[in-house]
Amino acid sequence: MPVLIQHAIDSEIPAGMKRLFVKSYGCQMNVYDGLRMAELMKPHGYALTDTYDGADLVVLNTCHIREKADEKVFSDIGRMKKVTADDAIIAVGGCTGQALGADIFKRAQQVQVVFGPQSMHRLPEFVERATRHHGLSRIVDTELPELQKFDALPTPGAYGPTAFVTIQEGCDKFCTYCVVPYTRGPELSRSAKDVVKEVQILAEQGVREVCLLGQNVNAYHGVNAAGKELTLAGLLKELAQINGIERLRFTTSHPNNMNDEMFNIFAEEEKVMPYFHLPVQSGSNKILAAMNRNHTVEEYLSHVERLRSVRPDIAMSGDFIVGFPGETEEDYLQTLSVIAEVGYGTAYGFAYSPRPGTPGAALSNQVEEAVKKERLAGMLAAIEACQENFNSTFVGKETTVLVEGPGDQDGLLKGRTPHNISCTIAVSGDAEAQTQLIGEIVRVKVTSQRKFSLHGEQL
Ligand code: 5AD
Ligand code: SF4
Repeated sequence: MPVLIQHAIDSEIPAGMKRLFVKSYGCQMNVYDGLRMAELMKPHGYALTDTYDGADLVVLNTCHIREKADEKVFSDIGRMKKVTADDAIIAVGGCTGQALGADIFKRAQQVQVVFGPQSMHRLPEFVERATRHHGLSRIVDTELPELQKFDALPTPGAYGPTAFVTIQEGCDKFCTYCVVPYTRGPELSRSAKDVVKEVQILAEQGVREVCLLGQNVNAYHGVNAAGKELTLAGLLKELAQINGIERLRFTTSHPNNMNDEMFNIFAEEEKVMPYFHLPVQSGSNKILAAMNRNHTVEEYLSHVERLRSVRPDIAMSGDFIVGFPGETEEDYLQTLSVIAEVGYGTAYGFAYSPRPGTPGAALSNQVEEAVKKERLAGMLAAIEACQENFNSTFVGKETTVLVEGPGDQDGLLKGRTPHNISCTIAVSGDAEAQTQLIGEIVRVKVTSQRKFSLHGEQL
């Protein structure tokens, strides 16, 4: 379970309130949406629990990006049947809800409500209707209205020192493997005025680090309180002025939306952290063309070079797909070369999953499952090696950590470094003093590394 939603759980269910269980699958945008749905249902008498066991309302905030993500939802619903109350309402939201609509009822009869990511603000109404007509009617809402949901959501709550804020949704790029343009709709930005207000509210509640979310977040453009249109770089500069905000991150960016301002922001604004998630997907130009990425490997590498010239220590992150239709061993090896050349701080690798309705799924030259599996294993090993190597460069050096919570043992706290590496820190002082450090940025000497994390001592 993502940490943020864990922090949002009501430790005791107040008398007279019903139990709501929200499970978010997939991306961080779903984590954000899941939290907002929990906040939305509270005034309607639903407190958040951490289990579907005994829940009155279960919301599955789903992901449709790969077949496995869909399958997980249906297997969870099957399991849930045995433990939720007889009159519990099961609602399927998110991208699978959007993509499958009423077909979900055929596969999972106990589901009563299906809705998409852009109608989540109407959840109270769906639940009210489902309660009224229990078992007799089914509700489907997969409209893609123009980002109305943000206006209809309550004031955001903070759940610890870090927060996600969705600033842009949807995608117009139509990569041939991807369902996002169909499930999240066209690329639309929230106004900068609303984003700034939301971050101010979060900062007042103790948030120190904000991660701005969007499918193509570097294509962001929105008008601020002074009526000026801001790009992502402009928005970051405005957010950096907010009292209490110390760290800014953003994800996910697209290579074709890079501009001078975006490169320079890493040098100009010290609150923008030296970490950049910029997916390339493949190291082969032939495959990039088949994926409709509209950029070459060389263009991508020149972006990385320019970023490093601005911010030499920047941690690069990326997404990669192996086994796209037509991918040969040579194409795959080119992807491995890019991984080694960039020296990613972290990266995410996936085996291509043909998604119904996307152009890629209709191609005849699909790669065999066994080959995809083998290439994925090779790629994940290459990514892991990169990550270990990157993390090792910090051992013996000083860094800072935003403390997010206690570690797994007494005397340990955990948080992340500017380069977004998890770090446990040995601290002295009693439990009280240690708790006080949560939400603080502390100076740390890194003493050792584990596979995907660092360990250090507070200075
Ligand atoms: N199969 C495998 N991976 C995919 N992604 C998107 N669509 C697919 C698919 N059909 C990956 C891309 C994207 C990340 C969020 O998920 O790498 O950047
Ligand atoms: Fe999907 Fe490509 Fe849009 Fe990213 S840019 S959401 S991979 S279509």
